[in-house]
Amino acid sequence: MRVVVFLVTWCFSFPSILTEINIYNTDLGDIHYTGEIGHEPLKYTPLSTQDQLASEKAADVMDFIQLIPKIDPLELAMLPPIGIDVPYLFLKGKVFLKNFVMSGVKQFELRKMELRMINLRSDVNINLPLISIAGDFYLQAYLTFVPLYLKCHISADLHNVNVVATTGGKKIRSPNTGEVVLQVNSIHVAVDIQNVKVNITDVETNAPEEETGPIVMQLFSNSRRNSESRTFDKILGIGLGIVNQELLNIPFEVFEQYLTTDTYK
Ligand SMILES: *[C@@H]1O[C@H](CO)[C@@H](O)[C@H](O)[C@H]1NC(C)=O
Repeated sequence: MRVVVFLVTWCFSFPSILTEINIYNTDLGDIHYTGEIGHEPLKYTPLSTQDQLASEKAADVMDFIQLIPKIDPLELAMLPPIGIDVPYLFLKGKVFLKNFVMSGVKQFELRKMELRMINLRSDVNINLPLISIAGDFYLQAYLTFVPLYLKCHISADLHNVNVVATTGGKKIRSPNTGEVVLQVNSIHVAVDIQNVKVNITDVETNAPEEETGPIVMQLFSNSRRNSESRTFDKILGIGLGIVNQELLNIPFEVFEQYLTTDTYK
C-alpha cells in the first residue's frame, strides 16, 4: 500500500526530526489499485427478467445500508495485521491499525448494480465523495535483521473514492449447517481515489539514522508496484475470507427468495 510504503520511507528519511515535529501534512495525490482473486464469470447479455428484478432488489438493500447507524462512523478496536515482505530490501514484518475510525461510508452513490443469477456474477460501481479515516498505526519489522519499530497517529481524507467490483459465486453445502450456501470465489476490483491527504502526529520510532537514501530510492522504484498489488490482494483475501465465513451460515434459499420475489406487485 502506498501509505505504508510512504511511512516506511518517511521514517528512514527524517529519523532525527521525527520526534520533534508534532504534525506532518502530506498530499499523496491520486491513487489507483486493482486486485483480483479467481476467474471472472461470463458477463452474459441480455439480463433475464429474473436478473433485472434481483439487481433492483440488491440496489434497494444498498439504499437500506445507509440507514444503519453503526456503520458510519465505523469504529474498530483493531484491524487484522498485514504482513509485509520486501525481499530486495530485506524488510520483513507486519503493520496494523488500532482505534480505527472511518466515516463517510453512508454518503455513497450506487452507480451500477447488476446481478446475474445463472452464474452468480455481480457487478457493482460505487462512488464515495469523502471518506475520513483515523487510527494508530504500528509497524513492527526487521530491516536487514535490525528491528524497526514505528508508531504514529494517522488521519486521512480520501476524496472521490470510486470502487468498481465484479464478483463470482458458487453454491456449496455448508460444513456448519449442511445446507446449500453461497461462497464468493472470485473478485476483481479497481479502486480510484482522486486525492488523499494525510496528517501524521505522535510519532515514536527507533529508525536508525544511517539507513537513508538508497532504501528510499529503491522503495519508489518500479519493483515497488508488485509488492504493493500483492499487499492489496492479501487484504482482498482477508476480506473475502471473513465474508465467506459469514455466508456459511445463511442458506442460499434466503437470498434467492428475497432477490427473486417481486414484492412490489
Ligand atoms: C490536517 O491538519 C490540518 C491542521 O493542521 C487540518 O486543517 C486538516 O483538516 C487535517 N486533515 C486531516 C485529514 O486530518
